[in-house]
Amino acid sequence: MRVLFVADVFGAPGRRAVEERLPRLREELDVGFCVVNGENAADGRGLTAKLAERILAAGADVITLGNHVWARSGFDSYLARAERVIRPANLSTSSPGRGLTVAAATDGTPVAVVNLLGSLFMDAAASPFDAVEALVEAARAQADVVIVDFHAEATSEKVALARILDGRVTAVIGTHTHVQTADARVQRGGTAAITDAGMTGPHDSVIGVEAELAIRRLRTGMPVRFHPAEGGVRIEGVIVAGDGGGLATACEPVRVNVP
Ligand SMILES: [Fe+2]
Repeated sequence: MRVLFVADVFGAPGRRAVEERLPRLREELDVGFCVVNGENAADGRGLTAKLAERILAAGADVITLGNHVWARSGFDSYLARAERVIRPANLSTSSPGRGLTVAAATDGTPVAVVNLLGSLFMDAAASPFDAVEALVEAARAQADVVIVDFHAEATSEKVALARILDGRVTAVIGTHTHVQTADARVQRGGTAAITDAGMTGPHDSVIGVEAELAIRRLRTGMPVRFHPAEGGVRIEGVIVAGDGGGLATACEPVRVNVP
């Protein structure tokens, strides 16, 4: 079975790319299960119930989130009841939502998806390295195929988590930086990994934002209202081929221009 992970969907250009291109891409790449990180889908920050439903309808089986999980008001009540939209597991235990879910692939195979937040420059309530053990145990009790989205800034954390989970999950996929790293691989123990899957959105930008606005904020140190850019739209991510027993045989980067 082949799993497609679609990297951080950024703003309307990213969401449009998913809606217009994902259904056909699933067929072209013979995808049995698709995870989409949707944490920047609402104008670059956060997600809304309406947009989540549209991404699911376009072919996402599960949507993962990240540090902007609470950016949009009203989303918390949707997240509390959503079964296929998950947030980082290591947020406050008092917040709504879940960090692990199981959904069926096209052939009926159950697939568990886990979402975690990094510790560096992030507001994680608990260490991802502490939280991950119980999560992986719970995931593996329900599914052989386990996909982990580790939403983190630091490459070191993401490489370390991939090593910790090698041989125990199908894939550890880094998200958040919006820059795809050139290290898609299957580790010695059979777990696929990439430090960052990239961004689905406008790449003629500064990680999704209109370049001129991001540069103005960096140059002046003053607040500048950000807007998503428009040009150079790509779907980015990785495709992971499974061995039928929960480990991976291949992990290839995906970069698809969406004109
Ligand atoms: Fe993020």
